[in-house]
Amino acid sequence: MDQLAIVVRRATERDQQAIRALVRSERLNPTGLDWPNFIVALTGGRIIGAVQMRKHTDGSRELGSLVVAKEARGHGIASRLIDTLLADDQKPVWLIAAEPNAGAYSRWGFIQIETRAAPAKVRRNHLMGSLARIISFVMRRPMRRLVILERRPAEEWTTRTSASCHGRGHGQGERVSA
Ligand SMILES: CC(C)(COP(=O)(O)OP(=O)(O)OC[C@H]1O[C@@H](n2cnc3c(N)ncnc32)[C@H](O)[C@@H]1OP(=O)(O)O)[C@@H](O)C(=O)NCCC(=O)NCCS
Repeated sequence: MDQLAIVVRRATERDQQAIRALVRSERLNPTGLDWPNFIVALTGGRIIGAVQMRKHTDGSRELGSLVVAKEARGHGIASRLIDTLLADDQKPVWLIAAEPNAGAYSRWGFIQIETRAAPAKVRRNHLMGSLARIISFVMRRPMRRLVILERRPAEEWTTRTSASCHGRGHGQGERVSA
């Protein structure tokens, strides 16, 4: 695929339907697909990739809805989408991924954490995703465990490591090796 022909940009209202169709085609979480949170990739005016920063009511943010159209995969489009979404982002971000794919996000500083250490809204999405996977398994689709990853500024993590010795409140918790 010609990388020069691919445009990565913020979504507009006109992209809403195409974003929904792409996310649903891969059976990703169908809720909270609000276009202002999305970055999209296009070729020839057609949306072939999307990713969003979900903003939860508890103040936490979750990188989600990462999807690239089947025919466009393996050309670095997902990486460009994440690069654009996280450019200059210094606030904590969580992400739910299938365990075998968790390592793919380490280049952006994501590290696997204990489920109980994630914010409540992220834990809820993790639970919903895990239940959906059990249903898929019953329908004879392959099931892979979902894990929660966290990315936060290095400086804050150093502070938190010492704080975590005194308790594990919201967003505070030990990391586990992926
Ligand atoms: C995952 C997905 C978005 C990757 O899109 P892509 O444009 O082919 O990805 P890229 O070309 O940028 O490659 C990203 C890297 O992550 C790896 N990767 C493989 N599976 C991955 C996954 N599920 N999630 C993230 N990265 C993955 C790729 O192998 C690649 O590694 P490399 O650079 O060392 O070769 C695409 O396969 C997809 O839409 N899958 C279905 C939906 C899905 O599983 N989304 C992820 C939800 S957590």
